[in-house]
Amino acid sequence: MKIVALTMGLASLALVLSAQDDAAFQTWMKSTNIEMGVLRKIDSKTGPEAAASAEKLSAIYQKVSAYWSAKHADDAVKISDEGKAAADALAVAAKAGESDKAAAAFKSLGGTCRGCHEAHREKAADGTYKIQ
Ligand code: HEC
Repeated sequence: MKIVALTMGLASLALVLSAQDDAAFQTWMKSTNIEMGVLRKIDSKTGPEAAASAEKLSAIYQKVSAYWSAKHADDAVKISDEGKAAADALAVAAKAGESDKAAAAFKSLGGTCRGCHEAHREKAADGTYKIQ
């Protein structure tokens, strides 16, 4: 009996933990969307504000990468790592005032959303999203 109770306890703990992870993931995506919106409005993609958004995105993508790594979803890890590299390149170019490089990095970063959403985001009937 003790073992059964322990197993059930562990199973519900795993459920709670994964629900927390999923909530965190949603928060990261909301922030990703906000920071991308900030960058979209900056025409030159350079300057301190652009650099700050790029650095936030780099930190988010790092967490996103670790999240998928724990789930052994190699395709999503690869996309996340590419996104992080693009965000880092964007931050460097934004600080250096290199508009062309910054624009190219922003484009690569923006190119990472769709592939991952198509593979790992499921739209529920009520219009909310789920991780798959
Ligand atoms: C490596 C995978 C991955 C990448 C890269 C990614 N997303 Fe997501 N995104 C997801 C998944 C999975 C969900 C569904 C999570 C959920 O909402 O529960 C999601 C959900 C979202 C949501 C809905 C959040 C909500 O309110 O529930 C937005 C907005 C979003 N992503 C924006 C973006 C943008 C913009 C980019 C690119 C700059 C991006 N995402 C890149 C996987 C990714």
